[in-house]
Parts: sequence; structure tokens; C-alpha cells
Amino acid sequence: MPKVIIDCDPGIDDALALLLALASPELDIAGITTVSGNVPADMGARNARKVLRQAEREEIPVYIGEMVPLAGKYVDAMDTHGSDGLGESFLPDVPGSFPDKSAVEFLEEALDKEEITVLALGPMTNLARLFQKRPDLIRRIPRLVSMGGSFKSHGNCSPVAEYNYWCDPEAAKICYEMYAEAGKKIEMVGLDVTRKIVLTPNLVSYMERLDNDTGTFIRKITDFYMDFHWEQEGIIGCVINDPLAVAYLIDPSMCTGFDSFTAVETEGICRGQSVTDSMNFWRKDANSHVLTETDADRFMDFFMTRVLKKNPH
Ligand code: BDR
Ligand code: CA
Repeated sequence: MPKVIIDCDPGIDDALALLLALASPELDIAGITTVSGNVPADMGARNARKVLRQAEREEIPVYIGEMVPLAGKYVDAMDTHGSDGLGESFLPDVPGSFPDKSAVEFLEEALDKEEITVLALGPMTNLARLFQKRPDLIRRIPRLVSMGGSFKSHGNCSPVAEYNYWCDPEAAKICYEMYAEAGKKIEMVGLDVTRKIVLTPNLVSYMERLDNDTGTFIRKITDFYMDFHWEQEGIIGCVINDPLAVAYLIDPSMCTGFDSFTAVETEGICRGQSVTDSMNFWRKDANSHVLTETDADRFMDFFMTRVLKKNPH
């Protein structure tokens, strides 16, 4: 079972991703680290604990990470995720304090001991800080799966930029550059594939019928997100980005893509855009595996059969 650290910013779809990861026996989750993204890192950590309580996995430690991006002003996504980051469900906090160790310190200590895969579901600030502090540890991350960026899809917070990379483009740029220097490729689960994953109100109702406890939790945190999508994009249901990265981490056949060189723009109107040189104009070695296709029905079956306690499989 590969050890994995989940670096996230819960966040509604992060919460669903955590539920899926926690219900997946293939993953040995060494810890959860949070970063400021959808909500500030400390609120995200409280939300991660709410998900751990829901999944009855409160033994997994949660470490609070970087509160602000490497450069530029921090912009949260509470308009999308609610003022509490979990769709204004206002679930009670799990009592207890957090470890003194920061997310970066935890990542450093854990990677010093052994190889650990990292699943990045938020801005890459913690990872960039780690890479700058301990470049020798980069090669101890066998896989770095990042929900972020886009290849041909439009952005979701500017015409061209996806939120996680837009929130801290300097960090994403450092991660792509430094992971490549260690001879590795970031697996980019971007908007091209994640925008195909839409959780509908019908599905949530059905989940509530099949497993009232889990289904009700999912409904409570997604109602607000559904309304946001209806009001902003006229979509019935909500795009859930992060859980697809979990499914792909476990079963890479969930998505298909190609190896290429990807750069992250940090300047001007394209700030935060990921630019993938699919035609190899720049003659640079591939530093990314960019996912472009997925089967949404297959993903939804995977998601439901794992997170629901009673399922037919
Ligand atoms: C990403 O940004 C966040 O709002 C989501 O949690 C996801 O990680 C999608 O662009
Ligand atoms: Ca996220």
C-alpha cells in the first residue's frame, strides 16, 4: 500500500476527495496537510477534521500549512465554497488542538524517513516551500499528482487560469521546474478532465436513500455549491474536481493523457495559466503528464461504491 500525504484546501470538493481517499484501502494516508486556497489553511484544517470525523478516521493527523501564497495577494474562494468552506453547512468543529508542527515540517520529517506519494488538491505553496528548503527530498516523492491547471479548457477564475495555479502561480512554477530537475513528471489532473465530473442533485438524493448518513453529509456540504453552479453557469449540479485526482491516483486508467512540457505563467493577464507545449515547439523535455480524457460514469460508479457504506459491489 503506497503511503500518501494529501495536501489540500477543504473546500467542498476537497472534502469529497478526502471521503473517497479515506474509503480506499489502496491508500495508506500518512497525514493531511492544508494550505490557504478555497479557505485559509487553519479553517481548511478544521474542515479536514470534520471529514475525518464523518469517515470515522480521526486518528489521521492534520497539519496546518502556509497561510499566504509565495507572492501576490491571497484570494480565497469562499464565494464558491461558502463562508465556512463547506457550503455553509456550519458543522461543529472537532474538539482538540492541532500539532505544533507545520505542514512543511511534517512533509520534511515524513519524507526524510521514507518515500511518500503526494496528492496536491490545492495551491502548491506548501510543496514549493518544501522544495526550496529541502531540494534533496524531491526525489523521495515517487508520484506527485496535482489537481490544477488546464490544457484546452477555459479557466475557472480567469479566462485562462485554473484556481489552484492562479492562487499561487509562483509555487506551481517552482514545483513543475524542481520536480523535473529530479527527473520526474507532475501528473496534471486539470480542468479538461475534472469539468466532466458533475455531481447532480438527483445523485445526491439517491445517495441519501442508499446511505442516509453519508448521503446527508454530502447534501449538506454540496447544496450551496449546486446553487453557485446554477447561478453562475446554468449547470444543474456541481463540478467536483478534486475527487477525480484521488480516483486517478488509485487507478491511473481512470484518465488518459500525454507527456509534455508544461510551464506556469506568473505575469500579466495570463497569470496562473498552465501552458502545455503539446506540439513540442520549445523542444523541452516533458515535465508533466497531462490528463485530457476521462469516463465520468465510470468515475461516479467508483466514487459511489466506495463512499457509500452499503453498495452492491
Ligand atoms: C480547484 O480549485 C478549488 O476551488 C477546488 O477545490 C479545486 O481544487 C479547481 O479549480
Ligand atoms: Ca481543492
